[in-house]
Amino acid sequence: MRHMIDPLDFSVEEVDKLLALANDIAADPSNYRDVCRYKKLATLFYEPSTRTRLSFEAAMLNLGGSVLGFSSADSSSASKGETVADTIRVVSCYADICAMRHPKEGAPLRASMYSKIPVINAGDGGHQHPTQTLTDLMTIKRRLGRLNDFTIGLCGDLKFGRTVHSLIKSLSRYTGIRFILISPEELKVPDYVIREVLQPKGLPYEEVSSLEEVMPQLDILYMTRVQKERFFNEEDYIRLKDSYILTEEKMKLAKEKMAVLHPLPRVNEIELSVDDDPRAAYFEQVQNGVYVRMALIMTLLGLAD
Ligand code: NCD
Repeated sequence: MRHMIDPLDFSVEEVDKLLALANDIAADPSNYRDVCRYKKLATLFYEPSTRTRLSFEAAMLNLGGSVLGFSSADSSSASKGETVADTIRVVSCYADICAMRHPKEGAPLRASMYSKIPVINAGDGGHQHPTQTLTDLMTIKRRLGRLNDFTIGLCGDLKFGRTVHSLIKSLSRYTGIRFILISPEELKVPDYVIREVLQPKGLPYEEVSSLEEVMPQLDILYMTRVQKERFFNEEDYIRLKDSYILTEEKMKLAKEKMAVLHPLPRVNEIELSVDDDPRAAYFEQVQNGVYVRMALIMTLLGLAD
């Protein structure tokens, strides 16, 4: 039995295969409408979510399966003090696969140790978010036609943004990628990402604070929201929340074919007027998220071959 807890749990070849399946699904989803008949997906969400939970549920419904679950810790037995280990042992009796989001880093990993069914990490605290990364990879591949040889600027809250940590980790396995890390001093990428991911492989990266200055070099711009819920005090959040706002004016500095990604939700960091720019890829990302999750559910249930 396999789980998806960390972006490196699948090899590059396995990710390629999964993205190929996701593309095939995208071409005609109706070919897959009965693949998971009589299978059940449990969504165990201890933290707010719109896209991730609904896209997992849509993915399973598109595959002909059914879904059950909870969407907040308050409505689960966590509020009575049940541990993640006990909850997953119970859910293993009800469902065939589960997706878990939890504010504690490592909670889905812990669940996977006690689980009888595949566990998917749907975001653990400020740590990792591997299925968002699959979504990002599919979008980059469809936009650029490749997953190597490009410059990516990651902008905003690189400290608490789990999608950023997972994307860097995953991209570190492809060749010819340059990372430009754009953030205020206080929201720089955590040390462990630099020490354990970028430095050991000698990957080219720079840390800067100005988006405008690096804009002309970028093939991908990955915008992120300042993660309000992870701040210890409101003042810091208010001071930092509008550090970067992508405007049409700034888009004029960018390459004609640059793609703008954002895991969403957006707060202020991309002006609405940018949505009409053909380079805006964030709603495409949302659609791709359903296809990669369909491909992932099939793969983990052994129904992909
Ligand atoms: C992200 C998350 O939850 O980490 N959202 C998502 O899953 N698409 C990003 C965010 O909340 O800012």
